[in-house]
Amino acid sequence: MDYLLTEDQVMMKDTVAKFAKQVIEPVARENQEKEIYPKEIIQQAAELGLMGVAYPEEYGGVEMDFVSYMLAIEELSRYCASVGVTVSAHSSLCVDPIFRFGTEELKQKYLPDLCSGEKLGCMALTEPGAGSDASGIKTTAKLEGDKWILNGSKIFITNGGEADVCVVFAMTEPEKKVKGISAFVVDKDTPGYTIGKHEEKMGIKSSSTTELVFQDCAIPKENLLGELNKGFKVAMMTLDGGRVGIASQALGIARACIEESIQYSKEREQFGKPIAALQAIQWMLADMATEYDAAWLLTYRASLLKSQGKPYTKEAAMAKMKASEVAVDCALKAIQIHGGYGYMREYNPERYLRDAIITKIYEGTNEIMRLVVSSSIMK
Ligand code: CAA
Repeated sequence: MDYLLTEDQVMMKDTVAKFAKQVIEPVARENQEKEIYPKEIIQQAAELGLMGVAYPEEYGGVEMDFVSYMLAIEELSRYCASVGVTVSAHSSLCVDPIFRFGTEELKQKYLPDLCSGEKLGCMALTEPGAGSDASGIKTTAKLEGDKWILNGSKIFITNGGEADVCVVFAMTEPEKKVKGISAFVVDKDTPGYTIGKHEEKMGIKSSSTTELVFQDCAIPKENLLGELNKGFKVAMMTLDGGRVGIASQALGIARACIEESIQYSKEREQFGKPIAALQAIQWMLADMATEYDAAWLLTYRASLLKSQGKPYTKEAAMAKMKASEVAVDCALKAIQIHGGYGYMREYNPERYLRDAIITKIYEGTNEIMRLVVSSSIMK
């Protein structure tokens, strides 16, 4: 699909693909098995500019666009979905809202370190009682003098155990419900900010997912992100971008399944010939490739719209829904093509399936994606 890309975008894709093959692939399996957070890889990705792809140079970014960002996340996820989601959660869920909603002072304070990868970011919205129903959060923020005092706990926070900066959503006027939520930028070293339980997950095992606890956590008044009580919109608009990142991650997983299944089917011989010569295998591969292209085009469209500053809520939801379902389907087919070997831990396909499943869940379940799409087309 390179014919749809600019020269700069192709260069980004090729550079990240080379980096991922050389640096990520050799350690991806071991990192996943031992649940090792890929700190050095993230540092090296930062040196390539991947922690601030789509943000201006004046804030430490490399000033490319969101199609370039999509391509970078896909290439990282081709070899390791955990690296892909680490970069995606940092960029989409922390850098992006600070860039879009922050005051100039907040941008100057946080973006250069985040975009250069000196610091890692995360976002804390989800709570035990507020998953799909994100407006049901109970964390509070009360203004006392010139400080906001945060109290509450958040769960399932991607990058939670490693992040230096967190965009946190809290109730500033609980009686106003969804219209009483505000967003804040919080530094990890603020007293009262604690990293809680580290989650043990089915997949994306080398990414960090934790609980975050805020106990009388006092942050400067100026760290309010966006307008007071307009935080729910900040969350929703941030998640629109996040969903493009997750779609890109899912594309990387799907491509891994396709490429490795093609290679395996050419090498594996049964009935006196490579299984690639069997129509049953060819049809599975044809379906995988066709569905991948459909998902890629949807993700490309959403990325392009975001780059152009046009509305893309529906397109982002469609892209995430389609790409995540394609990733799971491609992983199941990759296991089937690999036969008994596909079920074994020694081969990649079972890992791809475990990694793919979360893309149907986080940053909005696919049931919520269908809700977003249907409410958009039925207005
Ligand atoms: N852009 C701008 N505004 C938006 C918006 C969007 N995409 N979506 C909603 N809004 C606005 C609405 O216009 C409305 O504003 P007005 O009252 O001014 O009209 C307001 O927000 C409330 O909207 P709804 O009435 O539609 O809100 P709702 O409570 O019914 O929720 C929802 C809608 C789509 C179900 C939403 O709650 C949602 O997206 N839920 C999923 C949450 C989610 O994705 N969680 C993942 C968290 S991150 C994560 O996974 C962890 C991680 O670290 C990776």
